[in-house]
Amino acid sequence: MRRKVIAGNWKMNMLPDEAIRFIEELTPLVKDTENEVVLCVPYTDLFYVLLNVQGTNIKVGAQNVHFEESGAYTGEISAKMLKSINVEYVIIGHSERRQYFAETDETINKKIKVAITNGLKPIVCVGETLEEREKGITFDIITKQTRLALEGIDKDQVKNVIIAYEPVWAIGTGKTATADEANEAIKKIREEISKIYGNDIAECVIIQYGGSIKSSNAREFLTKSDIDGGLVGGASLKPEEFSKIVNY
Ligand code: 13P
Repeated sequence: MRRKVIAGNWKMNMLPDEAIRFIEELTPLVKDTENEVVLCVPYTDLFYVLLNVQGTNIKVGAQNVHFEESGAYTGEISAKMLKSINVEYVIIGHSERRQYFAETDETINKKIKVAITNGLKPIVCVGETLEEREKGITFDIITKQTRLALEGIDKDQVKNVIIAYEPVWAIGTGKTATADEANEAIKKIREEISKIYGNDIAECVIIQYGGSIKSSNAREFLTKSDIDGGLVGGASLKPEEFSKIVNY
């Protein structure tokens, strides 16, 4: 059985004092869950959050990483830097980064490799735009993104990769794919992984849904056969709301 991973993506929100208060409030609300609880927070919150989650079941992730090990890349953060302070997860290839920061399938693939080499668990985002959906090419887009993301990554490594299916048109819009549509898309992604690595490996890979998940719709998504968790944006900014998603 795959475990459920519920990850919050705070995006560019929350100052350290707000983050610390958030952890204090969230901790008792999620302490009994069997699901993996992850918070992907801004770089400036990482250290504070890591100190404050000690002794809890809350795991911590970053929202991006540079694809080189080190060097003259002003303003960037390396995988080794994240690992050095005990960050466990890192979001890679979020559609906002593909859209606003010119991330490509190639840079995303490099980032996944450097994350894995340094012992971080990547949460890799794939998803179609509204235009692509209307053209009827959703499955082509998401399977291609998945294949390119995983190029050169071996069997043992891919088990530690999480894929997040996030339809771009569903992010922050209040619109969601139906739970059945999301489940079908995720099955396609799993089939693609199976083509590369075989069925046994594909069955182990965690594939989340993301896009306007909230407490009122979480159960619908998270009880589907192939949806192994959620990547939650807006609704991860309030401890009580986020805890309801975790405890769906
Ligand atoms: P929303 O939950 O705000 O739609 O954002 C989803 C997302 O982008 C998570 O990475």
